[in-house]
Order: sequence, then structure tokens, then C-alpha cells
Amino acid sequence: MSETLVPKPISLSRRRFMTGTVSAAAVAPLLPPKAEAEEVAASRSKLREPVVTSLRINRQAYELSLDTRTSLLDALRDHVGLTGTKKGCDHGQCGACTVLVDGKRVLSCLSFAVMMQGKDVTTVEGLASRDGALHPMQQAFIDHDAFQCGYCTPGQILSAIGCVNEGHAGSEADIREYMSGNICRCAAYPNIVAAIVQARDETGRA
Ligand code: FES
Ligand code: FES
Repeated sequence: MSETLVPKPISLSRRRFMTGTVSAAAVAPLLPPKAEAEEVAASRSKLREPVVTSLRINRQAYELSLDTRTSLLDALRDHVGLTGTKKGCDHGQCGACTVLVDGKRVLSCLSFAVMMQGKDVTTVEGLASRDGALHPMQQAFIDHDAFQCGYCTPGQILSAIGCVNEGHAGSEADIREYMSGNICRCAAYPNIVAAIVQARDETGRA
């Protein structure tokens, strides 16, 4: 017959419990020593010191004094004053903040501004030529009524240019797939696809 194993009750007096707690705390202190704590605080406050950051946006040079944690999106909107790039979520889910960095699509809410030094950033404000002529993708969006409220539109247009340049606009199915990172609450999707097809054909790229 098998014996049932019953765990023995642990008898722990309040006094022993307190003694044990105190001695454990003595072995592994929860708080770092004062000097260490001061060092941590000093390095944290150093992180918050502004850093001079050189950016090139829409073919123009900018020197900004930024907290290193500033996103490219916030640098564009709050420090440069280019508010065309939109913040829909601030954590990489909506695509409203899409810009081009060295010609490639980038979510500016997930990029630190300091990472962009030495690169070319293009926002919606930099697409039209100096004489005001619209970029073919901007014109195509107007021609096809590819927006309603317009909040997602700057991101859609930059993303559409990236999509065509990458060679991902060969078919409407491809366009839908490679534009799926840009959300439009007004559901202008069919018109956006039509606009991209027009701009693709005009620029001769697919
Ligand atoms: S604001 Fe960047 S993805 Fe939504
Ligand atoms: S046009 Fe309104 S969210 Fe796209």
C-alpha cells in the first residue's frame, strides 16, 4: 500500500519570520548604495541634455537642439514646423507618419531624429517642385478623389511613391498589399489604388 506523503506544516514564529526577513535583506539590499544611485541619476539626466542634431529635410539643412529621445515625427512637427506629417497612433500601426528617408518609406514615429543625420528626409511639403507644380502622385490623388478628411493622405502619398519606386505597383493586388500599412478611416482605398495606377503609368515605373 502506498504511503500518502503529507507535507509537514512549517512552524514559523513571527519573531523568526522577522529575523529571517532582516537577514535576507542584509545579504541582498534592495536599494543600491548611495554613490551608485547618484551615478544612475547623473547618467539619466545626461540622457535628457539636448544634442545638436543636423537634419536635411526637403533639400534644406536644419540644425536642431533635441532631446535624443525625440522622434523624427515630433522633430518635424514640433521643432521644424512641418505639420503635414501626421500622428495617428505614435506606435507604428497607422502609417499616417510615413516619410521618405533616402527614398525609402519610414515610419517617423518609430525613428529617432538623431538617427537621421546625414540622410535625406522627404515630407509631403517637399514633393511639389519649386514652381508649385504638384508631384504626379499628388495630382493623381486629386484626380481620383483619393481622400476625404485628408488626415491619412500625406502618409498615403509618401507611401505610394515608395511603393512605386520599390517596384511593388505592378498590379492592383500588389498595390493593395504593399499599401496595407497605411490605414484610411474614410475608406478611400479604391480611389487610392486608382491614383497609384495613374501615377505609376505616368512615371513609367512599376
Ligand atoms: S503615427 Fe506612426 S504609424 Fe501611426
Ligand atoms: S482620407 Fe480620412 S483617413 Fe484617409
